[in-house]
Amino acid sequence: MHCVQKISESIYWVGGNDRRLERFENMFPIPKGVSYNSYLILDEKTVLMDTVDVAISRLFIENITHVLDGRDLDYLVINHMEPDHCASIEELVRIYPNLKIVGNKKTFQFLGQFYNFDYSNNTYEVKDCDTLSVGSHKLKFFTAPMVHWPEVMFTYEETEGILFSADAFGTFGALAGNIFSDETDFDHYYLEEARRYYANIVGKYGAQVQSILKKVSSNPINMICSLHGPVWRKNIEYILDKYNKWSKYEPEKKGVVIVYASMYGNMENTANVIANKLAQKGVQDIRVYDVSKTHPSYIVSDIWKYSHVIFASVTYNMGLYYGMESLLHELKALNMQNRTVSLAGNGTWSPAAVKVMREILGCMKNVEIVGTPFEITSTMKKNQEPTLDKFVEDIYETLI
Ligand SMILES: Cc1cc2nc3c(=O)[nH]c(=O)nc-3n(C[C@H](O)[C@H](O)[C@H](O)COP(=O)(O)O)c2cc1C
Ligand SMILES: [Fe+2]
Ligand SMILES: [Fe+2]
Repeated sequence: MHCVQKISESIYWVGGNDRRLERFENMFPIPKGVSYNSYLILDEKTVLMDTVDVAISRLFIENITHVLDGRDLDYLVINHMEPDHCASIEELVRIYPNLKIVGNKKTFQFLGQFYNFDYSNNTYEVKDCDTLSVGSHKLKFFTAPMVHWPEVMFTYEETEGILFSADAFGTFGALAGNIFSDETDFDHYYLEEARRYYANIVGKYGAQVQSILKKVSSNPINMICSLHGPVWRKNIEYILDKYNKWSKYEPEKKGVVIVYASMYGNMENTANVIANKLAQKGVQDIRVYDVSKTHPSYIVSDIWKYSHVIFASVTYNMGLYYGMESLLHELKALNMQNRTVSLAGNGTWSPAAVKVMREILGCMKNVEIVGTPFEITSTMKKNQEPTLDKFVEDIYETLI
């Protein structure tokens, strides 16, 4: 049975949900599932905006067939040529042999790399700022390289003011019938997942996000249709603001994320003592994570949100504990910047954790290390409390 919704008088959402997939990109846990969105415009010509993942391709074809109601499909715009949006292209060309696939040079390069069917008679190549009139609707294509792949485009529909934004403004979390963000309790249900999606998948490309935001900002935007998660038609400034902040690597909130790596629990104990002391000074909303327990995508996401981070790690084979090392390398790879950081380390015979953490953090832009790193040799002793108090005080002073 088809499962579609109208998003405007002549545009339908024809996507679907996957709540079975354990990990998105085989990496990120998605306990709330994910949606693969696709949109179909009915005008003098019919236009499909992207396809979906293989997991829901049968339903997708049923959705399209239902909405087209016997009409031919004239255009398929490929805003993003990543497999979670491209599974049905070949089948669509088979069902609608006159279909014109709209993409840029890179789109067609990737189409050929991923698939083996003949689409040579179906291409319609566009460049940045080209337009395509399909009746009362007029599409304008904005290339958005590296948001987060090189072929990505945003398609702006001028008559209704709709921005089809590829993965941008997307979120993990399946749609539960309420397809518009204003029909959901977005702040409570989706925001954390939207941030986790942004930080981990798009986060590295802040500069590119900034440039596409500027490029499209001169057009009135009444609706944003992303490839994942709810459609925005109200309070659009809210999500634009979040994207602006996230892509500038600006924290949303003052607050402290404490991440620890600990085998026998001693570094963990120190992390908890630090959290306790900060809380007793009045710091609120502190987050404490065990790198071995929580998937790094959640920790990265909270580091994107808050202003301060304390990394506390044991020494492991003259270096860093694996989970901590990979988290720090991931943050570096994602271009994380503009954070206030403090360090704590532990080791029994030759502590090296602080030194290694400092080296990795030294490669990141505008990361300030506050307080003298707090070091223990196996367990924290009572006589170290004044030193720890000073460490906590130094952090606290930068928080108020
Ligand atoms: C496989 C392994 C390698 C280690 N390598 C070092 C090391 O190179 N230098 C060091 O000082 N301690 C090393 N340690 C010891 C731990 O860093 C130390 O015992 C620490 O106090 C453990 O703190 P925890 O209770 O938070 O796990 C190693 C421990 C293990 C299990
Ligand atoms: Fe993508
Ligand atoms: Fe995607």
